[in-house]
This record gives sequence, structure tokens and C-alpha cells, in this order.
Amino acid sequence: MSRLRGTYYLLKHALLTVPGDVAETGLFQGGSGILMALMLHSWDFCGHRRYWGFDSFRGLPRAVAADMAGSATVGAAGQMAVARDVVEANFKAAGVNMSSGLVTLIPGWFNETLPGAAVRHIAFLRLDGDMFTSTRDALVNLYDKVVPGGLVYVDDYGSFNGCKMAVDIFRKQRGITQPLHWIRELAYPVEAVWWRKPLREHPLRGGGGGGGGSGGCSSSGGMDD
Ligand SMILES: C[S@@+](CC[C@H](N)C(=O)[O-])C[C@H]1O[C@@H](n2cnc3c(N)ncnc32)[C@H](O)[C@@H]1O
Repeated sequence: MSRLRGTYYLLKHALLTVPGDVAETGLFQGGSGILMALMLHSWDFCGHRRYWGFDSFRGLPRAVAADMAGSATVGAAGQMAVARDVVEANFKAAGVNMSSGLVTLIPGWFNETLPGAAVRHIAFLRLDGDMFTSTRDALVNLYDKVVPGGLVYVDDYGSFNGCKMAVDIFRKQRGITQPLHWIRELAYPVEAVWWRKPLREHPLRGGGGGGGGSGGCSSSGGMDD
């Protein structure tokens, strides 16, 4: 519950401060995605922001060595498989208009769908794929699309070895020194983590300044191209 509450507050903050869409890797039954789509629907007065949800709809991929390297949880292949039409029905049942263009659900393994994903500017990146490869593929393919000042949230940093390892390796490789903020759950002292992308890391801005503000009613999630 703390993580869902954290998602709510962090997305609210992102919507108030930066332009761009919401991208989520890992949907399961749709819980956090539904929350975020409803928030966009209620608060994006310009109607330009989008929710992009990526999932195999066949559950988790196979674990690799990094997933099994510590003492925390290891997900099993196929675990949390929920068919796409069930997830879509859950969005609809919650009141999300699935034909307005607000929501795009993209089926397939992250390593196949994320490299060519059409999402361009991300205000809030929510990683919830649990596994090493899932977290790594999401960061490698989507991190550079997070706008300056945008937020990166990782749901399972404290509970899945592989997830933590993928985040730590990526941050080290990219020289990301922004502090990791913790979100606690009852079972773990640290469960989710998040950080704010600094202004100077954004390649589209030529290395500094700009990027703040919600961007008003322009195209592409309020991001001027
Ligand atoms: C923990 S669940 C997501 C939970 C969800 N965000 C919620 O609010 O309940 C993880 C999901 O990620 C998906 N997934 C994990 N790794 C994946 C990968 N490499 N490619 C595609 N989907 C993946 C699984 O199918 C599963 O639905």
C-alpha cells in the first residue's frame, strides 16, 4: 500500500512539475497502471499526456544468475501472467476510457518492445518487472527518454535481488549520483526506490538548464520538440 501511495504522490509531483508521458514496465492485473491512467484522465487538462504500459502478458521471464545472487525473492518464469484482454477489462471496469488514446498497452518481452517504443518524453517512469533483465532492459531503453527533472520509480529494489543489481549497475555505468529515496513496506525496510533525473543528464537539452515546468498544452505530453 505504501508503494501505491508513493506512486500516487510521485506521479502527482511529476505532473505538476515536468512535461511528458507515463511509462510503466510490468502491469500484472493493471493495479498501478489503472491508478496512473485515472490520474492522467483527471488532471491532464490538456489531454496530451499518455500512459504507456508494457507487459508480456505471459508473466515473468526466466531468472538469470543475478536474480539468484542474494537472499531476497526470485521470481519464477511465467509467474504473474495475466492475459491482455483481462488487463484491458480491468482498466475499463475501473472507468478508464480505453478508446480515447490515453492508454496504450504494448504486448511482448521488454527486450523486443522497448527499443522501438513510440513513447518519446517520459515524466514518470515506473519500473515493475521484478527481474534483472526486465529492470535492465527498461532502464537501458527508456531512461534517456525521461525528461529533465522527471522521476524514475523502481518497485522491487528491496525485494528482488536482480532488480536491485540492475539498478545499481545502471546507475554506476551512467554516473547517476542522485540519491535513492526509499519507500518502505511492512515486509521490507526498503521496498521501492525512486530518484529524480537531474537537468544536466538530458540529451535533448544539450546538457543543462531548461526542462522545468509542466509545459502547458503543447504536443507530446506537454513537451516542446
Ligand atoms: C510485479 S508485476 C507488475 C505489478 C503491477 N505494476 C501492479 O500494479 O500490480 C510484474 C509484471 O511484469 C511483467 N514482466 C516482467 N518482466 C517482463 C519482461 N521482461 N517482458 C515483459 N513483461 C515482463 C510480468 O508479466 C508481470 O505482469
